[in-house]
Amino acid sequence: MSGLFDAVTVGGLELPNRLVMSPMGRGRTTPDGTPLPVMADYYAQRAAAGLVISEATHPSPVAVGHAHSVRLHTAAQARAWARIVEAVHREGGRFHLQLMHAGRISHPDLHGEVPLAPSAVRAAGQARVFEGKPDYPVPRALTEEEIAVTVRDFARAAEVAADIGFDGVEIHGANGYLLHQFLSPATNRRTDGYGGAPERRARFVLEVAEAVAQQIGPERTGIRLSPGFPLNDITEPDRAEVYPVLLDGLDALGLEHVHFVAGSDLGLVHQLSRRWQRTVIVNAGTGPLGTEETLDAAGKALTEGADLLSFGRQFLANPDLPERLRARAPLNAWNPQYFYEGGPLGYTDYPVLAAV
Ligand SMILES: Cc1cc2nc3c(=O)[nH]c(=O)nc-3n(C[C@H](O)[C@H](O)[C@H](O)COP(=O)(O)O)c2cc1C
Repeated sequence: MSGLFDAVTVGGLELPNRLVMSPMGRGRTTPDGTPLPVMADYYAQRAAAGLVISEATHPSPVAVGHAHSVRLHTAAQARAWARIVEAVHREGGRFHLQLMHAGRISHPDLHGEVPLAPSAVRAAGQARVFEGKPDYPVPRALTEEEIAVTVRDFARAAEVAADIGFDGVEIHGANGYLLHQFLSPATNRRTDGYGGAPERRARFVLEVAEAVAQQIGPERTGIRLSPGFPLNDITEPDRAEVYPVLLDGLDALGLEHVHFVAGSDLGLVHQLSRRWQRTVIVNAGTGPLGTEETLDAAGKALTEGADLLSFGRQFLANPDLPERLRARAPLNAWNPQYFYEGGPLGYTDYPVLAAV
């Protein structure tokens, strides 16, 4: 069995260990979604991860799902991101950008438009906007032309990401956002070539993956999936039929990694992992675990077919997580109050081991 602290090559990238920093939106941006300089410090502090995956980043204004979530569709945003990439590389890290379109998990207060989705089906719940907590509105179904534009937006953002030095891109296909909305029969009621049978519901995701892979290379492209995880009002009664079709399509495109979210249908994750020919990342996080439980959970996931393990909140609170786990040292606890706001507070001020 390969150990958590063994080096591994992923798509030509040498990772010093198998710990991945899971993508986490932290809201440290200007109101128009341009990264603030403090983001460079935050990500650089965590460069000892085998791979750092950025927070969900939007390739267009209408793709935005939450107030202060970060974007990459203007020159200023690209310049700000370039400085973050440089800071991570200066610390010896490896860095992927996560690209995300929120679809119906959005609100006009964020971008002035009716949110776009596969079909006009409203999500239960409230949007995270700048002020107040309005219900999600009924979204507008994308036209086929708008689907093509959306695919191109992903490809263009991936191209910029590669140009400014990101080592790869992870497409966000999980957690009830736009790509996931196309997969579910509850949110995708289309009667054209993008709706109906599993092959058709998988088509949009495959088109995005193909466009990104063509732009930056399949060996630098990965995808995040959460089969059966009901976040953001998504339901997937026929997931056992949809995901094998999707995985085979993604595999045929030569995508490097598939990254499964904690809370997914584990039986299906194991089955899909066996089908996948390249790197499987499993989000092993299950809440507030201590050092020994974390090492046990990680070891178990590695024996069950994962190649890499991702951790979210433990990386958030422990910039030196690999060193701490290797030393079997105690872990800092995270403070949810500052997950999405607070500037450097609860962001860049978590201590490293030597400073505890
Ligand atoms: C503050 C916060 C922000 C998150 N933002 C994202 C995101 O942008 N993209 C994503 O795919 N998952 C996001 N997640 C989910 C995490 O990547 C991860 O799957 C989840 O926290 C469970 O793992 P953990 O128990 O190790 O934290 C977020 C989680 C948290 C706590």
